[in-house]
Amino acid sequence: MSKPKLLIARAIFPEVIQKLEQYFEVETNQPDEPFSGTQLIQKLQGKSAALTTGGDRIDAEVLAACSSLKVCANMAVGYNNFDLDAMTAAGVLATNTPDVLTETTADFGFALLMATARRITESEHFLRAGKWGKWSFDMFAGSDIHGSTLGILGMGRIGQGIAKRGALGFGMKVIYHNRSRLDAAQEAECKASYVSKEELLRSADHLVLVLPYSPASHHSIGATELALMKPTATLINIARGGIVDDAALAQALRDRRIAAAGLDVFEGEPRVHADLLTVPNVVLTPHIASASVPTRKAMAHLAADNLIAFFKDNKALTPLNPAALAAK
Ligand code: DGY
Repeated sequence: MSKPKLLIARAIFPEVIQKLEQYFEVETNQPDEPFSGTQLIQKLQGKSAALTTGGDRIDAEVLAACSSLKVCANMAVGYNNFDLDAMTAAGVLATNTPDVLTETTADFGFALLMATARRITESEHFLRAGKWGKWSFDMFAGSDIHGSTLGILGMGRIGQGIAKRGALGFGMKVIYHNRSRLDAAQEAECKASYVSKEELLRSADHLVLVLPYSPASHHSIGATELALMKPTATLINIARGGIVDDAALAQALRDRRIAAAGLDVFEGEPRVHADLLTVPNVVLTPHIASASVPTRKAMAHLAADNLIAFFKDNKALTPLNPAALAAK
């Protein structure tokens, strides 16, 4: 019996390709040139399965043009590149990679918070540029992490990981806002108190964004929200581009409306708003929050295992639309 055909849309660990080759006829993209929408449709012709990343959009147009497709495994916990309703309607199973990246991503959120609040990259650029001539009392004086108020917008698994790091490791007071409130036991474990979004914005010394992107969360932080924040506050976005209005943020940073920002994700990435590149009080990283070697391997293996489970047993380890499985 011939093997089902699989497209791996971006470069991936060779060991994961070898594993998948036991079950699939695999087409890879090891040169790692991202496909345009048209190229993706072309590459998906005759394929039953795809291993995608956050930049590969699977929507109604792609589905209509790729009728052989049965399953897409995203190597990411976020799945705003999937039109889940259209996939369910087309009977295409979608999976993602939750849990395996929670702690690594929470570590990174905390690292970005510390780098931003303590002005680490700004001061390093100064030193590398040969500008360090003398010590001075206020040189790169930033804000404290310990004992401050940590605000978290979006309190899923990663938000809870950041809350624990802040409360238990740094003695921070943790407040959060989320679509749904955690239960009492979860709040106690994270030492976190639920507040309104407005109170979160007004009270946080450091605000970390960890909510999923959807049309409803588009520009959750814009000029109005930034105006409510403390002028000494830092803002960290490790969620998705589009949750923050990057133009409004650049203006707020330039005007010192808030003290600083740390951004791992951007509207329209890999492009970065030109104004963000010229303000000094922002730390910029290229969407690497989950990028530790063990975690990226775990994500790739989980995506592969979802594809294998689907074809072997009509199951998935982490399905996003189980209705598509039932309909099969
Ligand atoms: C995720 O898993 O959603 C990360 O942002 C990596 O894409």
